[in-house]
Formats: sequence, structure tokens, C-alpha cells
Amino acid sequence: SNLTQDELKKIAAYKAVEYVKSGMVVGLGTGSTAKHAVARISELLREGKLKDIIGIPTSTTTHEQAVSLGIPLSDLDSHPVVDLSIDGADEVDPALNLVKGRGGSLLREKMIEGASKKFVVIVDESKLVKHIGGSGLAVPVEVVPFCCNFTAGKLEELFREAGCVAKLRRKIGSNGGEEAPAVTDNGNYVVDLYLERDIGDLDAASEAILKFPGVVEHGMFLGMATTLIVAGKFGVTVKDR
Ligand code: A5P
Repeated sequence: SNLTQDELKKIAAYKAVEYVKSGMVVGLGTGSTAKHAVARISELLREGKLKDIIGIPTSTTTHEQAVSLGIPLSDLDSHPVVDLSIDGADEVDPALNLVKGRGGSLLREKMIEGASKKFVVIVDESKLVKHIGGSGLAVPVEVVPFCCNFTAGKLEELFREAGCVAKLRRKIGSNGGEEAPAVTDNGNYVVDLYLERDIGDLDAASEAILKFPGVVEHGMFLGMATTLIVAGKFGVTVKDR
């Protein structure tokens, strides 16, 4: 078929919303795929097919979208247990490990999705990889602004054997040029780790990254996803972990 990538994202998102039941506390993901799920939830609320949903947005952007669509919202302080979260990902491996954070929302996403009983990941087939962190795309790391170049240097050193290049993420200006550091919803910066080769054991890599005091969180979501929904040219597949 000749569905566009955005249509595939929408198909995966609508499928995920079938998991949402009335009365649930739902983590609302961030990005071009998750936004279709948020829109679909509001549509079902308006049609009366869903009732008493409380959304927990994973970014200020999603917060704004959900407010504009009239979805009742709360946060983890008031609702520490989330029934279900739905979110996209930048990369997904066969064990359902993810890389997230290209949009810069990884910290809130990890907090909310980590507090979720179920975490449904929605992607088009372009996001599937054999190994996360090995596809030439970056593994994002949220760092405190204080001496961020020092922290970036430490991270680069840590993965030297994998050919790591650590780059502080910058905003792109209207002329296409790079500008000031990109700032996350939490007032932090992002260091993107570009890896030439596989970083090996993911749990060990995760632990090593988190050991640096300047690091807040990283974008590898290991063992968190409970369901993966992939939309591709040949249809939708659902995989449970
Ligand atoms: C936001 O920081 C990310 O984790 C997104 O969930 C991820 O980048 C996927 O976004 P798309 O659905 O737009 O590809």
C-alpha cells in the first residue's frame, strides 16, 4: 500500500488506544506518533465511548495538546500509579528495549512510564533495529547545565571503545544554524552520544552512565515496554513481552 509514515504512526496509535478503558490513569507520550493517541483519546471521550480518564502528560508540549483537547490531567504526585502509558520511541530492539529522547522529553517519560503497570510503545516500522545504540543514531543523555562539557567528555571517554562522540544538543535557528544549548522541560541540557559500534551490555552501559553526578537520566528504556505495536506496509503487529 502507499500509506505515508504519518498514516502508519496514526494506525499504531489508534490500535494502542484500544487498550485504554474507562476510569484509567493514562500516561500520555510525546512526539509525532503519541500525539495521534492523545487526539484519539479525546475523540473517544467526546463521543462518550471513554469516561473518567485522567491523563498524565510526559512533556509540556503534550500537556498543552491535552489541555486544548479538554482531557482531564494530573501528575505523579497526585496519581503515583499509572494504569497504562502510550508513547513512541526512536529505536526498538527485538527484546523491546528502547531509545527515546530525540524530542528531549526522556526524563518525564521515564518517570511516568516507569510508574505504569502497562507501557504500550507505538512505532512505524522504520524504528525497528537489531541493537539499540548501534544504528548510527544518538543515545540522548539529560545532564545538568553545570559544566556540561565536562560531563560530555566523561561520557565520551566511557564509550571510547564504541567510537563514541558526545555532542551537546543545540537549538536549530531559523537560518538552519546551531544556536544556544537546547533546554529540556526540566531546565537541563541533552548530550547526544553518537556510537560507531555497539555499546555491548546495555544494563552495564546504563549503570555506568548514571554513575556520573552530572547525569540526570539517559534515553535507554530497558525492560520497560510491555507491548509493542508496529505499523508497517504489511499491516499492524502487536508483540507482548
Ligand atoms: C521524545 O523525547 C521522544 O522520546 C519520543 O517519544 C520519540 O522521539 C518518538 O517520537 P516520534 O514519534 O515523533 O518519532
